[in-house]
Amino acid sequence: EKGNYRHFMQKEIFEQPTVVAQTLNSYVRQADESVALPQIDFDLTAIKRITIVACGTSFYAGMVAKYWFETFARVPVDIDVASEFRYREPVLEDGGLAIFISQSGETADTLAALRHCKENGQTIAAVVNVPTSTMAREADLLLPTHAGPEIGVASTKAFTCQLAVLAAVAAHMAVKKGKMSREEEQEVVRHLLEAPACLNAALDHDDDIAAMAPLIAPARDVLYLGRGQDYPLAMEGALKLKEISYIHAEGYASGEMKHGPIALIDEAVPVIVLAPSGPLFEKTVSNMQEVSARGGKIVLISDAEGLAEAGDGCLATIEMPKVHPLIAPLVYAVPVQLLAYHVAVVKGTDVDQPRNLAKSVTVE
Ligand code: F6R
Repeated sequence: EKGNYRHFMQKEIFEQPTVVAQTLNSYVRQADESVALPQIDFDLTAIKRITIVACGTSFYAGMVAKYWFETFARVPVDIDVASEFRYREPVLEDGGLAIFISQSGETADTLAALRHCKENGQTIAAVVNVPTSTMAREADLLLPTHAGPEIGVASTKAFTCQLAVLAAVAAHMAVKKGKMSREEEQEVVRHLLEAPACLNAALDHDDDIAAMAPLIAPARDVLYLGRGQDYPLAMEGALKLKEISYIHAEGYASGEMKHGPIALIDEAVPVIVLAPSGPLFEKTVSNMQEVSARGGKIVLISDAEGLAEAGDGCLATIEMPKVHPLIAPLVYAVPVQLLAYHVAVVKGTDVDQPRNLAKSVTVE
C-alpha cells in the first residue's frame, strides 16, 4: 500500500531512516557499541582477498564497500559487474571471500557468478533483501538487509540498507584482523547509528529538490560528478535519473572530467556535483570552476560549509547535513534519489514501472 504517497518509489525513499535503523539493529550492538554479524561460522581473519560482484545499483553499493574494506580492514578488493566477471576468467585464489550483493537475490548474472565462485573455492557471502531467495540459500554467510519489500522498480531503500550492512561487515573484519581498535570500532558504531537521523535531515530537503526539478527536466543530458566514495554515488544518481526520467545521464569521477566529458559541457548540460566538505573538497571546487568557465550549470549537493564556499553562482544547491564521511554515501543517496524522482514526476513518466525494465532480471 502506498499510504499517503503518490508512488512506491517515493514511499520507499521516505522509509529509509526506518529500514536502515532496522537493518543496523542486526549488525551493531548499541549496549557495548560493537559490530556483530548475524551469522558467522568461519574465520574472517584468514580472508586475504575479497571479490565483490553485483549488477546495477547493488554494484554501486559494492563500489562504496570497496573503499571501506580497503581503508578499514586493509584487504584488497576486486569488484566487477556480474555480466563481465563471469566471462573474464577471474583469478580466484584459495581463502578468498566473494560477496554478492542483490536486492532480489535472483539476478541471473549475479547468481551464475556466485556459483562460479563457489566451484572455485571461495567462501560465499550474500547481501540480499529477500531472505528466501536463491542467493540467500546458496550462500555460506547470509547477510540480510531488512529493507522490507521493494516494489518500485528503481532500487532505493535496498541500496542504503546494503551500504549499512557492508559498512558493518567491513568494520567487523577490521576488528577481527586487528586493524581497528576498540575505540575506533565504538566510533564507527556511533556514526552508523547517526545515519537514520541524518537520512531524515536529508529528506527534509524534499521540497527544495521538488522545486528545482523543473530546471533539470528539460535537459537532454546530465552529468553527475563525485570523488572517492561519492564517485559511486554519482553513478547511482545518473542511473536513477536515466531509468525513471529517460534523460541521458553519466556519472563520472570528478577528476576524470577533464579527460573527455568536459567536451560535452555547455549551458544545456546540467552538472550535478556531489561533494561533502572535507579533504577532497578543494579538488572538486577546481573541477567545478572548469565547468563554470565553459558555461556549464552546476547543481551543488554539499553541506552548509561546502555551500558557503562554493555555492555562489550555481544553478541550484541542495543542502545536506554535515555528516561523518562513513555515512555520507547513505545520506547523499537521498538527494540523488529525490532528484530523479521529482524530475520523472515533472516529465510525467511511469515512476514505479519504467519502460523496458523489470524488478528482477532473471535473464542473462
Ligand atoms: C536500479 C536497479 C537495478 C538493480 C539491478 C540488480 O535502480 O534497480 O539496476 O539494482 O538490476 O538487481 P538486484 O539487486 O536485485 O540483483
